[in-house]
Amino acid sequence: MRKYIVAGNWKMNTTVAEGVELAKAVAAKAQDLPANVQLVVAPPFTHLVSVAEALKGSKVALSAQNCADHEKGAYTGEVAVNMLVDAGCQYTILGHSERRQYYGETDEKLVVKTKLALAAGLKVILCVGENLDEREAGKHFDVVTEQTKAVLYELSAEELKSIVVAYEPVWAIGTGKTATAAQAEEIHACIRTVIAEKFGLEAADDMTILYGGSCKPSNAKELFAEKDIDGGLIGGAALKADDFIAIAASF
Ligand code: 13P
Repeated sequence: MRKYIVAGNWKMNTTVAEGVELAKAVAAKAQDLPANVQLVVAPPFTHLVSVAEALKGSKVALSAQNCADHEKGAYTGEVAVNMLVDAGCQYTILGHSERRQYYGETDEKLVVKTKLALAAGLKVILCVGENLDEREAGKHFDVVTEQTKAVLYELSAEELKSIVVAYEPVWAIGTGKTATAAQAEEIHACIRTVIAEKFGLEAADDMTILYGGSCKPSNAKELFAEKDIDGGLIGGAALKADDFIAIAASF
């Protein structure tokens, strides 16, 4: 059974107090959403424990934005998967384009991180997506196919069940430029086919595939109406509880 998810990636925004307030507002409004829509919020590491507390008893799940590629030890500045679980996370985002672009996140590293996260019991929101040059060169299907295969084809069928894929075209992130519903749908369908080729039709059909990139209340309905778009990974609009909830109410 495919699950619908709307996840808020807060990126490097908010103080702890602001984050707790935002989480509480989201949790309060989440009560009225349909039961088949899962909300997730992904605050910065420093906020996780406090936001977990704020979300207690609500329908909103907690996610990290990244994790370390080692279990523990002398890795200054890193946060291990067990620490995320201990802090109250059920999910972690991995492979966000900002991490690929600014912090040298490679597919090889993402395989390691994904396996560690899954072994710790976390679900992984794996981000894929082409940049503007790649789209203009007509390489978007190839890039997304390669990124998807690079990580998912290293997993077992059982591990795959704890993966959510997020398609985020880099040129649409924070730019106000959204992919059209048709542009997003054709990539989502491609991702589902790539999954089906290795894991079979049923596993591919069960996969939740999110769209991310300037998704907002005014365009969410059209995007979510596509048959292969199962929700969103939201940046800017996730920082306002009303907008975030309005997106989730667009199904
Ligand atoms: P925006 O919604 O701000 O474009 O960000 C999308 C994103 O990168 C979510 O991870």
